[in-house]
Amino acid sequence: VQKPIVVVGSINIDLVANAEKIPAAGETVRGTDFQVHPGGKGANQAVAVARLGYPVQLVGKVGTDSFGDQVLSYLQQTGVDVEAVEKHRGTSGVAIIAVSPDGENSIIITPGANAHVTPDFLNMHHGAIRNAGIVLAQLEIPIETVEHLAKLCSDESVPLMLDPAPARALPDNLFPQVHWFTPNETEAAFYAAPTNQTHLSDSAQIARALLNARVENVVLKLGSRGAFLASANGFSHTIPAFPVKAVDTTAAGDAYNGAFATALMLGMEPVEAARFAAAAAAISVTRPGAQPSMPTRAEVEALLETGKGT
Ligand code: RIB
Ligand code: NA
Repeated sequence: VQKPIVVVGSINIDLVANAEKIPAAGETVRGTDFQVHPGGKGANQAVAVARLGYPVQLVGKVGTDSFGDQVLSYLQQTGVDVEAVEKHRGTSGVAIIAVSPDGENSIIITPGANAHVTPDFLNMHHGAIRNAGIVLAQLEIPIETVEHLAKLCSDESVPLMLDPAPARALPDNLFPQVHWFTPNETEAAFYAAPTNQTHLSDSAQIARALLNARVENVVLKLGSRGAFLASANGFSHTIPAFPVKAVDTTAAGDAYNGAFATALMLGMEPVEAARFAAAAAAISVTRPGAQPSMPTRAEVEALLETGKGT
């Protein structure tokens, strides 16, 4: 039987406004478009897995507001197991996203219910974590919960894929418990050179710095420039991106992680899994919204076959 992927993470509603420019402090700009999408890095990664047809369970919290019901029913429809998603009295996590015409965005996140994903709450779902094929986490829940999760995973010998996003200071002893560490460029720079004394421009150099922090494997997500895979055993490889016309890059990193984990669970070798993930992420940027943009397995396989973007 297939061991499920378990995602422990945030669930948000994304309120997305497009405008000619992103407003500066004190400035008001007129928007051109507004959409409400289910989001949150945890939920996005879970949906990415479900769309690819692999069993996935989400551990997290939504609020008791209408956003909570909305995002929960979307997750259910998509086939994510939400047995371990609880309602916390109060507001759901909300991301207020401003998008400029060139696809640049600026985001305010209010954690709402995500702030109540506590270590005690994780303990209630210890069984799910124990039975997971791999556990996926990000940094939109309290850091002490991520620390506790890393300990549970290492006690149970379940691999942990940590997306260190958004970048936040992490305790040193967390790194050795991470099997896959998957920063984007900005995050990688943050973790590799926290004091900003060295300008790290070369992927190999950045990955080396992260491996020195004792994570087992690093996947640097470089957007349109692809990904760089490096392991503690000395292996490294560059995987190119698929050229596509981006309309909305929100959650491309989440598409990548969900797909990479799925591919590993399907038995692919890391480099092959990284190609699969690159294809999934490429498709996601050609469509608006976070969760609605996640591709199916057939779509990913079609792109892998033709090698061309849609
Ligand atoms: O990774 C993209 C996500 O980050 C968005 O869906 C938004 O909710 C923020 O959490
Ligand atoms: Na998208």
